[in-house]
This record gives sequence, C-alpha cells and structure tokens, in this order.
Amino acid sequence: MAAPKKRRRSQEWFGREGKMGYIYRSWVKNRGIPHDQFDGRPVIGICNTYSELTPCNSHFRTLAEQVKIGVWESGGFPLEFPVMSLGETLLRPTAMLYRNLASMDVEESIRANPLDGVVLLMGCDKTTPSLLMGAASVDLPTIGVSGGPMLNGYYRGERHGSGTHAWKLSEMVRAGKMTVEEFHEAESCTHRSHGHCMVMGTASTMASMVEALGVGLPGNAAYPAVDARRNVIARTAGRRIVELVKQDVPLSKILTRAAFENAIRVNAAIGGSTNAVIHLIAVARRMGVKLDLEDWDKFGRGVHTLVNLMPSGEFLMEDFCYAGGLPVVIRELGEAGLLNKDALTANGKTIWENNQEARNDGPNVIMPFKKPFKRDTGIAVLRGNLCPDGAIIKPSAATPKLMKHKGRAVVFENIEDFHDRVDDPKLDIDESCVMVLKNCGPKGYPGMAEVGNMPIPAKLLKQGVTDMVRISDARMSGTAYGTVVLHAAPESAAGGPLALVRDGDLIELDVAKRKLHLHVSEKELAKRRKGWKPPKPPMARGYWKLYVDHVNQASDGCDLDFLVGGSGPFVPRDNH
Ligand code: FES
Repeated sequence: MAAPKKRRRSQEWFGREGKMGYIYRSWVKNRGIPHDQFDGRPVIGICNTYSELTPCNSHFRTLAEQVKIGVWESGGFPLEFPVMSLGETLLRPTAMLYRNLASMDVEESIRANPLDGVVLLMGCDKTTPSLLMGAASVDLPTIGVSGGPMLNGYYRGERHGSGTHAWKLSEMVRAGKMTVEEFHEAESCTHRSHGHCMVMGTASTMASMVEALGVGLPGNAAYPAVDARRNVIARTAGRRIVELVKQDVPLSKILTRAAFENAIRVNAAIGGSTNAVIHLIAVARRMGVKLDLEDWDKFGRGVHTLVNLMPSGEFLMEDFCYAGGLPVVIRELGEAGLLNKDALTANGKTIWENNQEARNDGPNVIMPFKKPFKRDTGIAVLRGNLCPDGAIIKPSAATPKLMKHKGRAVVFENIEDFHDRVDDPKLDIDESCVMVLKNCGPKGYPGMAEVGNMPIPAKLLKQGVTDMVRISDARMSGTAYGTVVLHAAPESAAGGPLALVRDGDLIELDVAKRKLHLHVSEKELAKRRKGWKPPKPPMARGYWKLYVDHVNQASDGCDLDFLVGGSGPFVPRDNH
C-alpha cells in the first residue's frame, strides 16, 4: 500500500474549513487570488531584503518578480515578505550588531506563516548570514539567491574596487598624494550599477559560500546584478524550490558537515573574507552541525588562493564571472582531492556533478591549483596567551615578511582613543611596532565593528610604510587588507587578555606556528587583571542590552546564546 501523502504545512492554514479557513484564505484573496490557489500546492515564501537603505539590495523587487514567475511556472503559489534588511554602509554602529536580530525576524516570519518552502534574497554582507541562520533554525526546503556584484568600478582607466579603494585612496589623501577633489571624483566612478561590493569582500564571499554550500544554484556567486543571467538564476530558483517541497528536501539535507567543509576550502581558494569564519560557524550551529574555529585551520590548510581578485589581487567580480566564476574554483578543488564531491545541492545534483565540466576562460583571473595565485593561504587560527580562545589572520591579504614579527605594542583603549591619537605627530610609533586596539569586540563596540584594519599613522604613511602588524578583537571588512590579526577571543570588554596589554609590551606573531604571544609574565598579568574594570555597557535597555548580555564570542560565531540551534518548522497554534 502506498504511504499516505504528507499534508503540507500550508494546508494547516489554507486547507481548513469553517471560521479558521475563512480567516486564513479570505484576506489573502484581496489581491485577486483565485480560490484554486489554496488547493494544497506548495506555498513558497520569498524572503526579501529589499531596502533603499541597503543600496546593494535595491534591485531585489525585480529578482523577487523573477522568483515568483518561476514558482508559478512550476505550479506553486508564491508569497513575498519583507524582513529586516542590513545595509553595511549606513547602519551604525555596525550592521553586525543587527545580524542576530534580523535572523530572529527571518526565523519567526517563516515559521509563523503558511509556508512550505523559502527562497532567500540576499546581497549586502549581513543579509546573507542573517537569512541563512533564520532559515536553518526552521529547516524548510530553502534556496538562496544572491543579488550579484556590481559592475567593475573604473577611475582614470584603472579598476576600482568597493571598499578596497576607499581604504587605499583615503590613505593617499592622508599622505598628501591625492587631492580631495580627485577623491570625490573616484568615489563617483566606483559604484556605478546595482549590486553588492564587487571585490572579493564579505558579500561576494558569502555569495560564494551560498554556492559552495549547495544552497544556491551554480553561477550564484559571480553573475553581476545587472546581468540577465542573474534573473535566470532567480527564476530557476523559483521553479526549483517547488520541486524541493514536492520531494521533501529540507535545508538540513544540504547544509551538512560535508557542505561546510567544502565551503571552508572554497573560502581559502577565493581568498575570501574573514567574516565568513564567524558567519559559517553561526549558520552551522543553527543547523545542528558541529563546526569550530579549528575546522577553519584544518580544512583551509594546504589550500591555495586561486583567484586573483581584490583585495588580495587585481581583478574584480565581473572579471571573475567572465573567467567562469566559482564553478572553475570548485572544479580545481575537486581535481586536487579537496572536495566532498557527493555533497547534495539545491538543484538536486551533487556539487561535483554541477561543476566537473567547468571551463576556465580567464586563466589570469582564476589560476590552476598546481600554479596558484598565492600558496597555502587558508585562514590561519592563532593561539597564545593573548587569545586563549583563538584569533585569526588572512594570510592572502597580509605582507609575507610580517607574518613572523616581534614588536613593541602601541595600545589604543577604544576606537575614539585611536582616532584621537593616530595622526598625532608626537605618537611614539615606528613601523616595527604592533598596533593594538581594545574594546571593539561583540560586547565592547557593541557588534564587533570592522575597524580591525586600523589605518597606518599618517607620519609613517608619509615615510612610505604601507603595512604594520595590527591586533584587535574587532573584525575587518572583507574589502580590506594588511597584516591584521582579528577576532581575538575572549574580547577585551569580556576580560580577555587583550584588555591587559600596555604600551611597550613585546608581542610576537608567528603565523607559520599559529602563535600570538604577549611577552609579559603570568605574575604581571595577574597583577594587571586585579586593576582591570569592565567598560560601562553602551546601553542599559532594548536590543543593545539583550545583545550585550547574550552574545557569544567570535570563536563561537557571535550568535546570541539562546538562538543557537533550531526549533524546526512546527505549526503554531491558531491565532483566533
Ligand atoms: Fe553592501 Fe559591500 S556595502 S556589499
């Protein structure tokens, strides 16, 4: 006897009779929805992060329309809904403070509504992890569609990359090598189309993670936002999500441990953002997959950067697209024996089936594994008495000669102290010093802002210094570069050893040995600890308080402690 067909979740709303059936259907009909749309066909939520306050996602109405067409074409019923949208450039003190809040919005919006499957529309940095985290905690069939990068920026004939050139040019202005008028002109030439940052920053990295994890379709990472194929991806996702619901393939079948291992290796191969470390740990733990900081070191080791893209290289995402995009990178990893080839993806094929035939049409943009762009450049996880719970560095963005360095600490107590003193000609600093920034971690900032790539003091810039060792409990923009140690845990505002560093202390960094050591005796540190007082919490009420009271450290993904894990797609009680 055939097994009885599983009643779809949406039927617990739309398939009802009596008062509740009337309530659940009648108001939805006000847009002209015919009665037959409630007949048990898959109801697909389109989770949209469109906002004019998130410029990188400003084209998402078009994408949502394409998803809808795809859903209708496959016999589903699409319902679009907005969630909190996090724009990296406008939100203060940092979009990261709100990632977990947005993830709660996503989780509850999905579970509380009559949905059988979801398509997530995401682009600007934090919109990707917040949607993945929320969706993972519900675990319905899910496909991610990224908004795509902007077209290349160009200024005076040169490629200009989002963020990367903001850091570069502002240093040139500070060093007196560029006028403010030229700076303004360059600013207008960089972001010239819809889409997210077009360097291999956090948005492009996370779009690549979506593709590498298999939750997005092949090509998801690189098609520019304005490329017609971006709309095809959205429309295909609309068609495909209906099939995933019919075949009952929840997100947990795709977001497996094997998928995360693949994503870590892909991140190394693309020279991806350090932010992915925090986001992937958070997403994995929502999904019930055990993923630790050490996994980044273990699976990133021996992986080379293949992609010659800013901020580590010279090209941009549009070039990456024309070269063949992420499928070429995945193929290279597969051929090097560095891919879990059987990992299932959203189109129903394995990751290897999707990518094994990928063709490299830009060998100067995507290099072969045997002759990589940079060798052994996976994220390195550092340990030592300065970061008992770990810190990270992105070797592909660092200066090789600084990867082993010992220097005198120059300490800034917080970001305001840094801004007040960094350009003071009397600041006692030279290029061999190690710049230390405190109180910029999850609790301290709050939200762990992207300030870890501290600008070099102006007087050193004028001497031609372009990089120094910098250490903090902050994050760094994926568009930034330098020998920058990030995410030191526990953070200084939580009493981590970083809080105890003083001007003049010797600090030793040895990336090959994965070591970060403060040359101060245990006895002296204990003495300093007695005199340490935690900084005053930034706000005594509201979400900021909830966040500071409950946020986990960077090594645990910065999720709120009570959000880790999931509650599944249970159907809540009736509302009337
Ligand atoms: Fe939105 Fe960079 S500012 S992706």
